Amino acid sequence: MNVLVIGSGGREHAIVASLAKSPLVDKIYCMKGNAGIAELAECVDLDYLNIQAVGDWVDAHGDVEYTVIAPDDPLALGLADELERRGHRVFGPSKAAARIEASKSFAKALMKKYNIPTAAYETFDSYEAALAYVRAGKFPVVLKADGLALGKGVLICETPAQAEAGLKQIMCDKAFGAAGNRVVVEEFLTGKEFTPGEEVSVLCFTDGKTIVPMIPSCDHKRAKDGDKGLNTGGMGTFTPCPFYTKEVADEVMQNILLPTVAAMNAEGCPFKGVLYCGLMRTPEGMKVVEYNARFGDPETQVVLPMLKTDLMEIFQAVTDGRLADIDIEWEEGACVCVVLASGGYPEHYEKGKAIRIGALDEGVLLFHAGTKREDGVLKTSGGRVLGVCAKGKTVAEARKTAYANVQKISFEGMQYRTDIGIKYNAKG
Ligand code: AMP
Ligand code: GLY
Repeated sequence: MNVLVIGSGGREHAIVASLAKSPLVDKIYCMKGNAGIAELAECVDLDYLNIQAVGDWVDAHGDVEYTVIAPDDPLALGLADELERRGHRVFGPSKAAARIEASKSFAKALMKKYNIPTAAYETFDSYEAALAYVRAGKFPVVLKADGLALGKGVLICETPAQAEAGLKQIMCDKAFGAAGNRVVVEEFLTGKEFTPGEEVSVLCFTDGKTIVPMIPSCDHKRAKDGDKGLNTGGMGTFTPCPFYTKEVADEVMQNILLPTVAAMNAEGCPFKGVLYCGLMRTPEGMKVVEYNARFGDPETQVVLPMLKTDLMEIFQAVTDGRLADIDIEWEEGACVCVVLASGGYPEHYEKGKAIRIGALDEGVLLFHAGTKREDGVLKTSGGRVLGVCAKGKTVAEARKTAYANVQKISFEGMQYRTDIGIKYNAKG
């Protein structure tokens, strides 16, 4: 079977690498891909946000039998619906189901209606009303632009002045574009005794009937060590997550995963694809911080390397509604991914820096995110550039190998966190 993967980052490199191992897959196309993906797939330089053009391309390439849509924005635009309408097989939720990520007010109303644990909230379409509500409430308070904002539309405000500036930024200055026409104002969740709540990403395969969680992973969203600096797309991940015990997993299945699948069915928009639940451990139990309608990045870079089952077989089972019939197996042990980013990311950064890569240890995986090849030279082409991933018996062992291999890679301005995999792992 020939497969098209939509997307161009580290997550897509991990998906392509996993599909490349499948005996069911002959040829892989990737739209648009990057320099690492180009070693495994034929890259197609087409704007995947133009969903008509993608539909035309798939129509014209009769050899493409299956399309995997990895990023959030083409899903929110309805690429899955467009390809299905044209008679193609797809992995990824419909536009209506992708609202669970694309509209925070939709997701919050869903959780409220179906009693799925999450932070208390109110939604506002007017700046004045939002401001009056925030001024009368407690601090810190969390402001979220309703729509997609590249992971940047969440502001945690400690004081009324900060909240006022934040609301102005989102709703008046439109710092996140039309995503800020509506704002969700949320209660600030914490762990025990107001310590920061532990967070975990639980990515799940679901065909709208059965939901199967993947192994849990933890992201590091802030740019700097010790969770300092600005929010980013994700600076590194590890799996497993020590606090995510069987008891916690059972609680999440009963209180969050099953009710979410049922809620989406009851609302007439069954969810088929990967449902990503960003969860926080609070004194009242596990709560949803956010849903995404897709694989996480860089969570996928530590999760898929541990998958023993054929990913293509899982994708097909989801499309055909037979997820209940297959067993999904995972390797024992741990995996750590350290993201190497361009200097200045997530704010201003330069591209086009030559990348030097020495001989990496056997078993270490290097996923490309923002790279391109120019006249045979590998160069940076984005904020997040590479993900160095290593496995080990424990997170500590995997972390040691990942960082030993980070030392073999360099480019001008390269920045990375030195503490990936330390939090939640007492023995570091
Ligand atoms: P998000 O983009 O929704 O993943 O939010 C980014 C980060 O903001 C999350 O990973 C949390 O650390 C934090 N966050 C979001 N919502 C809340 C909340 N209600 N309470 C506390 N922290 C939050
Ligand atoms: N790593 C967070 C995300 O993919 O949204």
